[in-house]
Amino acid sequence: MTEQRPVTQATPTDAAPAKAKPALPDAQTVTEVKHYTDRLFSFRCTRPQTLRFRSGEFVMIGLMGDPDPKTGRQKPLLRAYSIASPSWDEELEFYSIKVPDGPLTSKLQHIAVGEEIILRPKPVGTLVHDALLPGKRLWFFATGTGFAPFASLLREPQTYEDYDEIIITHTCREVGELTYGHDLIEGLKQDELLNEVIGEGFWKKIKYYPTTTREESPKMGRITDLMRSGEAFEDLGTPKLSPETDRAMICGNLAFNLELKDMLEEFGLEEGANSKPMHYVVEKAFLD
Ligand SMILES: Cc1cc2nc3c(=O)[nH]c(=O)nc-3n(C[C@H](O)[C@H](O)[C@H](O)COP(=O)(O)OP(=O)(O)OC[C@H]3O[C@@H](n4cnc5c(N)ncnc54)[C@H](O)[C@@H]3O)c2cc1C
Ligand SMILES: NC(=O)c1ccc[n+]([C@@H]2O[C@H](COP(=O)([O-])OP(=O)(O)OC[C@H]3O[C@@H](n4cnc5c(N)ncnc54)[C@H](OP(=O)(O)O)[C@@H]3O)[C@@H](O)[C@H]2O)c1
Repeated sequence: MTEQRPVTQATPTDAAPAKAKPALPDAQTVTEVKHYTDRLFSFRCTRPQTLRFRSGEFVMIGLMGDPDPKTGRQKPLLRAYSIASPSWDEELEFYSIKVPDGPLTSKLQHIAVGEEIILRPKPVGTLVHDALLPGKRLWFFATGTGFAPFASLLREPQTYEDYDEIIITHTCREVGELTYGHDLIEGLKQDELLNEVIGEGFWKKIKYYPTTTREESPKMGRITDLMRSGEAFEDLGTPKLSPETDRAMICGNLAFNLELKDMLEEFGLEEGANSKPMHYVVEKAFLD
């Protein structure tokens, strides 16, 4: 029989569990995880009650880093992440790369339902409706995980209220890397809530243009090359962009962003910002 200690003898130290796991600062609980390829996954987590953000913005998220070998102290290891869910969603969604030796994602890729992540509730970013002047046609240009902010904006009612047509181009190396975006857009057709709130068949405003560069698919090539040759405009049945009618958001690797920026400037579009709305906005999908 185990010895029962009288309650009166218990001290605060005795009362605490032997090794209580310290709660993470700004902790949120993971509610769902989906893996798409060996390099890509998405997850959902609880949303801080006080967090307000505009669809398209990003926040800093992460995990506690390894203990310092000298002090044993752990510091939060944070990275910028676009919020992939829309501003009205009661949870938050993120779409992530898995970098094999990446300080954060080598660990984050193993996150499971019920575990915690750190989320700093300070949303920022330029890929927001407020940074664009009114227009007729809205272009979303993405490579790789640069699709994430558009996953948010594609579920935002304002996108369909403000524009007659929404064109989303997504260029990836391989076919499997298009799955998250493809499934999300297909899901809009069946989304009863959005069809009711925005209007039945709102998704018919979307023209989806996925392309791959290193694996066979129905449309191959970099979107920049396909636009330069005119093939993309022909396929889409859309004229070239013009500052009178077209607005654009760009999110991809640095070279892609710069190349596309140059193309849009050649079409006469000017870059906007939160403080000065114009014709297009850009954000990096990752540093370097
Ligand atoms: C504004 C902003 C928003 C971002 N949003 C997202 C997002 O929604 N989803 C996401 O997965 N990442 C996003 N990132 C990148 C993210 O901040 C991290 O770099 C990424 O999670 C990898 O972290 P890490 O610590 O494992 O490796 P890091 O040390 O941060 O990166 C290691 C290397 O991996 C490559 N890399 C990093 N991120 C990516 C990526 N997303 N796609 C392809 N290669 C990459 C780069 O070559 C980088 O040098 C964003 C970055 C910025 C600046
Ligand atoms: N995706 C993979 O399977 C894979 C595997 C192992 C390692 N990695 C590493 O992960 C990092 C990121 O890879 P990623 O595939 O996510 O992103 P990425 O290299 O940015 O490529 C994403 C897509 O963007 C295209 N692209 C790149 N530069 C462009 C430009 N200037 N204009 C137009 N399109 C452009 C790429 O086409 P191109 O194919 O023509 O470049 C590709 O289809 C890289 O450092 C890579 O070495 C990737």
